[in-house]
Order: sequence, then C-alpha cells, then structure tokens
Amino acid sequence: MPKLIVVNRAGEETTVEAASGLTVMEAIRDNGFDELLALCGGCCSCATCHVHVDPAFAALLPAMSEDENDLLDSSDHRDGTSRLSCQLPLTDALNGLRVTIAVED
Ligand code: FES
Repeated sequence: MPKLIVVNRAGEETTVEAASGLTVMEAIRDNGFDELLALCGGCCSCATCHVHVDPAFAALLPAMSEDENDLLDSSDHRDGTSRLSCQLPLTDALNGLRVTIAVED
C-alpha cells in the first residue's frame, strides 16, 4: 500500500495509506480532507482537486493530458508543480509521494 503525505492548506502534514489503483484525489478525499472538493468526482472537468506535487516525484507521474493542462490554466495558483490529483493513479512506485492541497480559486 503506497503511503501518501498530504499537506493541507494550514500547512499540516499527514501521512495516509491508500490502496494501489486509487487516484491521489480519491486517497485524499477518502481520508477526510474536505478542503479538496473534487466536485466533478474525477472526470477531469472541475479543477477543484488541484495539488502541488513534490518535484522529486515529477518523473514518475503520468504525462499531463490537454484537458488537464487547460483546466489548470484556469487556476490563479498554478505553478510548475501543479497537477489535478484525480489524474494521478497511485502506484507502489509513488510510495512516499508528497502533495500539497492548492489554494482554492
Ligand atoms: S475532481 Fe474534478 S478535475 Fe479532478
């Protein structure tokens, strides 16, 4: 079970365990972080699951789709570490992944 380190908007860090195959969004939501709204349920159409990913893991992440890229462009808080967490399946290779929930737009 990959471990995921989640930093909330207050800067508090929590380590959670998530089953492989869940997305990062599902793992965050299922562990009670209600500040990650994920309004579209993972359909890549809302951008309310925006997180910043530890750059050390960037090479292990799936490539960004055009839809994800377009949605992230709608955020005032996008930077080079931004991803939509519903587009990131958790795998054992991502064990220890650290993500920070982005500021709400
Ligand atoms: S949950 Fe809506 S884009 Fe990720």
